Amino acid sequence: MTNKPRSPREIIEEHFKRSSYAELFEAVYQNGVVPWDKGEPASALVEWAEAQQLDGTGKRALVVGCGLGDDAEYLAARGFDVTAFDVSPTAIAQCKQRWPQSRVTYVTADLFAAPEAWRGAFDFVLESRTIQALAWEYAPRACAAIAQLVKRGGQVLVLCLGREPHEDRRGIPWALCRSDLQAFVDSGLEEVQFDDLHEESRRNFRVHYRKP
Ligand SMILES: C[S@@+](CC[C@H](N)C(=O)[O-])C[C@H]1O[C@@H](n2cnc3c(N)ncnc32)[C@H](O)[C@@H]1O
Repeated sequence: MTNKPRSPREIIEEHFKRSSYAELFEAVYQNGVVPWDKGEPASALVEWAEAQQLDGTGKRALVVGCGLGDDAEYLAARGFDVTAFDVSPTAIAQCKQRWPQSRVTYVTADLFAAPEAWRGAFDFVLESRTIQALAWEYAPRACAAIAQLVKRGGQVLVLCLGREPHEDRRGIPWALCRSDLQAFVDSGLEEVQFDDLHEESRRNFRVHYRKP
């Protein structure tokens, strides 16, 4: 009898009960069914980058929790020198397999223990759906960890599921409300633009920050 792959939700729920988030994400990638993988860059990123005429020439970008690498490759195609990291070694191995000729530097790393050399080193930092994948109590620490990676004058783009404060947190993923993102501002970033988007019947926030 062949074993049917388990659903990602089953794996996530089980790991939340008994292990760390790093083991949890590794288990999802090893299981081979990656529910957030769309096989293309996030439309909210592409739309924003086109509107901004984002030009990465001569600039460094960092992609947080890069998953299978589509956003990182997109930023490299816009001219950035891109570093992309994920806590899952299997995700990073798959990025390298998927994009053997890539100019992106793919690294296994934990946002909460990022290399010291990354501090204040990047012109552009993309955070797409990592914070919401951690239990909500991690959000302030995650925002602070991301904010310290961008250099003065640099930009941060955050994409996440959005909710109102009175709405259920509806864990996994943990939709964020605006006040959950306040930690970016408390960590020294200025909010440039806040977009409340409705995509695929879900509410998404896209927030553009800059470090003065
Ligand atoms: C919901 S997925 C989003 C992946 C990708 N950013 C996207 O939008 O398709 C969250 C990603 O964050 C990674 N991740 C979770 N915790 C992390 C951490 N502490 N440091 C780095 N990556 C992390 C997971 O392995 C997973 O790839």
